[in-house]
Amino acid sequence: MRPHLLYREPRDRAALYAVLESSFPGLGRKIDAARALGFDWDAMTTPFVDRRDDRVVAHVGVLEVPLRLDGRSVRVGGIHAVCTLPELRRQGCYRRAMERALRFVDERWERAQLYTSQPALYEPFGFRVVPTTSWEAARPPGPAAAVAAPVDLEDDLATLVEVLGRRAPLSQVYASVDEGWLFGIDAVLHTGDLSAVRRLPARDLFVAGKLVGERYTLFDVVGHHLPAWSELAPHLPGSGPVTLAFTPDRFPQARARPLQTASEGAYMVRGPFELEGRAFAVPPYAQH
Ligand SMILES: CC(C)(COP(=O)(O)OP(=O)(O)OC[C@H]1O[C@@H](n2cnc3c(N)ncnc32)[C@H](O)[C@@H]1OP(=O)(O)O)[C@@H](O)C(=O)NCCC(=O)NCCS
Repeated sequence: MRPHLLYREPRDRAALYAVLESSFPGLGRKIDAARALGFDWDAMTTPFVDRRDDRVVAHVGVLEVPLRLDGRSVRVGGIHAVCTLPELRRQGCYRRAMERALRFVDERWERAQLYTSQPALYEPFGFRVVPTTSWEAARPPGPAAAVAAPVDLEDDLATLVEVLGRRAPLSQVYASVDEGWLFGIDAVLHTGDLSAVRRLPARDLFVAGKLVGERYTLFDVVGHHLPAWSELAPHLPGSGPVTLAFTPDRFPQARARPLQTASEGAYMVRGPFELEGRAFAVPPYAQH
């Protein structure tokens, strides 16, 4: 996608990045790092702004996110990167930018989504929280195997990008099936690089996740085909049970059980949503 006019206009782009940076310090550097790896924020987001004296002072971004949702392919409007310059807050700048963004969303998609730590900001605009969960799965017994190694940019990046473009959906219940841009941008926004993405030995198969102590949380599995749990689990870092931060319907062998842990943020939707009242997860690299 060609970047929106606002991103192509140097003065507007610089002002917009200043607004983003004022609310999310370090974001600009991470966006640049993602772009250098081929995951281009500017090309994927549509900006809605409010201006003061013609200068951009508030921003609401809209992403078109292709999902597998309850067994169907749907496109939803994803709201992200909501911010107003600190000195101009509580003067309606966000409200005006959001109203513009939602007019654009409503003309295109039945559904909108976002992920936030501040749901109260979005409730007045028709968003509602839908609870999500995570799961836990035991590692199958058997000999230890070589642990998947962090991707090597020289050896693995081209393969990762290729596999992302033709990946098997992680779940039929809820998964992003973006061509890799959302995965890549989220990965770099989380850690500043792709260090949380690992490649299984001698396979075109990647995992992403986080190791805290010996507990591994698996965010994503990226492959042309999804492996069986018994093929995958021995290669994951750490030991003991694995937390699954995605809906494990395509890993029946894992016999995962839902966890009661509260998630760090809230998933919100606007419009129809098939999964209310059902157990599902929004994988970390599909959140935005
Ligand atoms: C959140 C943020 C974008 C609001 O911008 P703003 O321009 O000050 O918001 P507005 O003046 O347009 O407020 C519109 C409505 O949003 C809600 N709102 C705004 N700021 C709020 C706050 N700090 N707490 C609760 N509600 C708030 C109110 O309903 C408000 O209406 P009201 O003023 O009539 O009560 C701004 O505070 C910001 O950039 N914060 C840091 C970044 C951030 O947290 N972004 C959200 C990430 S999920």
